[in-house]
Amino acid sequence: MIRPILRHGAGILHAEASPVIAFDKELETLIEDMVQTMYAASGVGLAAPQIGVGFRIFVADPSSGHSLDELITVINPKVLEQDGIQTEEEGCLSLPGFTDRVNRPSRVVLSGYDKDGSSIKVEGTDLLARVLQHEMDHLNGSLFVDRLHGFRKQKIVRRVRKLQRTGKW
Ligand code: NI
Repeated sequence: MIRPILRHGAGILHAEASPVIAFDKELETLIEDMVQTMYAASGVGLAAPQIGVGFRIFVADPSSGHSLDELITVINPKVLEQDGIQTEEEGCLSLPGFTDRVNRPSRVVLSGYDKDGSSIKVEGTDLLARVLQHEMDHLNGSLFVDRLHGFRKQKIVRRVRKLQRTGKW
């Protein structure tokens, strides 16, 4: 089932998500919904809080559904390694219409669990590294705009507030 995607300003997007404890049928359905919702929105990643569920789960696919084997699901992720630096244009399904250049490590290794509760390790470089870290941020209650500073951050926040005030958000 495709679920509505929450936007910047929704409380759950700005709060830390809780660890998953039960690896059950309900979790499986939630993950299926997240995958469908991500692909329907042509996204490359989606974290559970973006559909209003405050658990530490994200799905990612840097090919956005164009390749069959790039779909990644990580539950209760932890950063094991991070190195290098990259600066690229970044957006978010919870901030539609906004992008900016964000600094991120160029390589990351995460540990976590798959939907069956088996431990997994995921390594990403370049775009995948960016997506993995963007989704990790969501689980910690932070959006890409929170990684910007000064005028570039204010510009986006002001425009979002204006859209909110005028009921267009
Ligand atoms: Ni996002």
